[in-house]
Amino acid sequence: MLKPIQIKKDLYYIGLNDRTKHLFENLWPLPKGVSYNSYLITDDKNVLFDTVDICYSDIFFQKLETALDGKQLDYVVINHMEPDHSGSLGLLRSKYPNVQIVGNKRTADMVEGFFGITDNVMVIEDGDQLSLGKHNLAFYLTPMVHWPETMITYETTEKIIFSGDAFGTFGTLDGGITDSQLHPERYYDEMIRYYSNVVGKFGSPVQKALEKLSTIDIKYICSTHGPVWTQPEQINKVISIYDKLSRYEGDEGVVIAYGSMYGNTEQMAETIAYELAQQGIKEVIIHSVSKRSHSYIIRDIFKYKGLIVGSPTYNNKLFPDVEYLLSKVEGRDMKNRYFGYFGSYTWSGAAVKRLTEFADSTKFEIIGSPVEMKQSMSLDTYDSCIALGKAMADRLILDRK
Ligand code: FEO
Repeated sequence: MLKPIQIKKDLYYIGLNDRTKHLFENLWPLPKGVSYNSYLITDDKNVLFDTVDICYSDIFFQKLETALDGKQLDYVVINHMEPDHSGSLGLLRSKYPNVQIVGNKRTADMVEGFFGITDNVMVIEDGDQLSLGKHNLAFYLTPMVHWPETMITYETTEKIIFSGDAFGTFGTLDGGITDSQLHPERYYDEMIRYYSNVVGKFGSPVQKALEKLSTIDIKYICSTHGPVWTQPEQINKVISIYDKLSRYEGDEGVVIAYGSMYGNTEQMAETIAYELAQQGIKEVIIHSVSKRSHSYIIRDIFKYKGLIVGSPTYNNKLFPDVEYLLSKVEGRDMKNRYFGYFGSYTWSGAAVKRLTEFADSTKFEIIGSPVEMKQSMSLDTYDSCIALGKAMADRLILDRK
C-alpha cells in the first residue's frame, strides 16, 4: 500500500517521481528525473489539484485512495491541461464518476478534446471562489504560463497557491518534499533550465501572472514539478527568479556557443574566451553545440547577458546544430542580450552572412565586429577575435557602473 505524504493538516502530496523518461516533452534531458506533483485538500468537500502523467496512474490512484480513506472526491481542479498533469484525468473520472472537474472555458474545451468529457464540468472565471468548508479557493487565470488554459488556484485560509508549472523545477523529490526537508540550492539551476526550456517564450504572460500574485499573501507554493516552497526566503527567491527570467534579465557573463568540425572554429571561441577572462569577466561558458544539449545552452543564455555564437560554413549554410540553436533563441523572443558572432569557411563563406541575418532579426545589441576566418587561424583573425572579446567585456563592464 502506498501512503500519501501529509504536508500539513488537510493537505496531502499525491505526486510521484519519474526516473524513467530520458526527455521531458521528448525534447529536454532529464538527468535528475522530474516529479509530477498532485495535491489533495480534505475538508467538507475534498479536492484534488491536477493529476499525473498516465504512465504513473497506478501509483497515483493508490496514494489518492489511501489519502481519501473512504471519503468521496468532490472536485478535481485542473490548473494545467498538458498531459504530464492531466494524463490521468480520464481514468480519474472512471474511478470517481461523480467528481466535478473545475477549470476555465479553455480547460473545458481541452477536457472535451482530450477525454471526450463534457458533463459535470464546472467552468469558473477569473476571480471566482469555491468554498470547501474550512478552506476556500480563489481562481486566478494565468494564460500562457504555460498553455492558454493555465490558471493558479489560491487557497485563501492557509495562503497556499497551487501554481501549475509556475515555480516548477526539473529533478525528482528524493525523500524530502518541502524546501525545509531538502537542500533547495540543488534545484535552482534546474528551475532556470525548466523555465527557459519550457516556459521561456512567455515572459510577458509570466509578468502578468506575477502582477496578479503580488496582491496576495503566499505561505506555500505547491507547483506541479519540484519542491513545495514553504520558507519565506525560498518563496521570495523563487518568485524573484521567475521575475528576473521573465524580464529576460541576465547576469554579467558570456555564453560562447559554437560549432566546429575539426577544431579551427573552436580556436576562435577559445581566443575570444581568453580575452574575456583577461578583461576580468569571470563567468564565461563555452558550449560546443555538438556536445552539449541545447537545453543547457538555452538555460545559460537566460542566465547571462552576453552571447557569442560561432559557426563554420556547412553545405553553404550554418553548421546544422548552430542553426537549430538560433531557432531556439528566436522561439523564445529573447531580449536584453549583447550579441557577438564569428564564423569560418574553407572555400566559400556563408556562416557569417547567416549570423548577420540572425543578428539583424533580433532586438539584441550587436557588440564588436563579426569575425570571419578562412581555413585556419591567422594573426589577423587572432587579433579580430581578441577585439571581439574585448568589445564584449567592455560592454559588460560598462553595466557595472
Ligand atoms: Fe508540466 Fe506545461 O506541463
